[in-house]
Amino acid sequence: MTGAPGRFLAFEGPDGAGKSLQAARLAERLRADGRSVLLTREPGGTHLGEQVRAILLDPGPTARSGESDALLFHAARAQVIREVVRPALARGETVITDRFAWSTRAYQGYGSGIPVELLAGLEALSIGPTWPELVVLVDVPVAVGLARRARGAQEDRNRFEDETRHDRAFHERVRAGYLAMAEADPGRWIVVDGDRDPETVAAEIAARVLPRIG
Ligand code: TYD
Repeated sequence: MTGAPGRFLAFEGPDGAGKSLQAARLAERLRADGRSVLLTREPGGTHLGEQVRAILLDPGPTARSGESDALLFHAARAQVIREVVRPALARGETVITDRFAWSTRAYQGYGSGIPVELLAGLEALSIGPTWPELVVLVDVPVAVGLARRARGAQEDRNRFEDETRHDRAFHERVRAGYLAMAEADPGRWIVVDGDRDPETVAAEIAARVLPRIG
């Protein structure tokens, strides 16, 4: 992030990692410390983002391509960055995003095979310089994430995913992609083992993030 006084943090992770819960827990913790925190989820946070979410939730008669998905996620991202994130950072708030462009790299890039140079072009357009300074990767083995998700499937109607399109190998590529991105940029990424009880995970995240953001 350039030029703005606020802090910008992201949570990433494969399906069923528990990152949304952990993002909410960190937001609560920072608010208890007196910070003004804005928690956003992708796609969402703007009228356009919610419309994109509705498109993604509609299975439709044919499977969407990874390319279409990449453009839809980045369209929503371009809007939330300009309408929500930059103004909040300019006000000095802490912004926590539940998923960011690394999700597109992991799912549409590593998962669906879109070359990273093409995604980098979309990022330049939608995000510009406004990248989170810190990313928490909540990591779980694919089998654990998918089992958790299957258990929560009844209440979890908010899924974009077409199970027939994304097999086990896809999820393995997504997870490996996340770990490779984290390894390539260790100054920005914090990797936590999400295969433990949520309280333990939340405590580790707070202990590792708080010193980094003052
Ligand atoms: P999300 O609503 O964050 O659900 P959860 O974190 O509980 O899995 O994401 C829904 C799905 O959308 C998830 O499978 C990841 C996928 N996704 C992409 O494929 N690309 C993206 O750029 C984003 C933001 C999400």
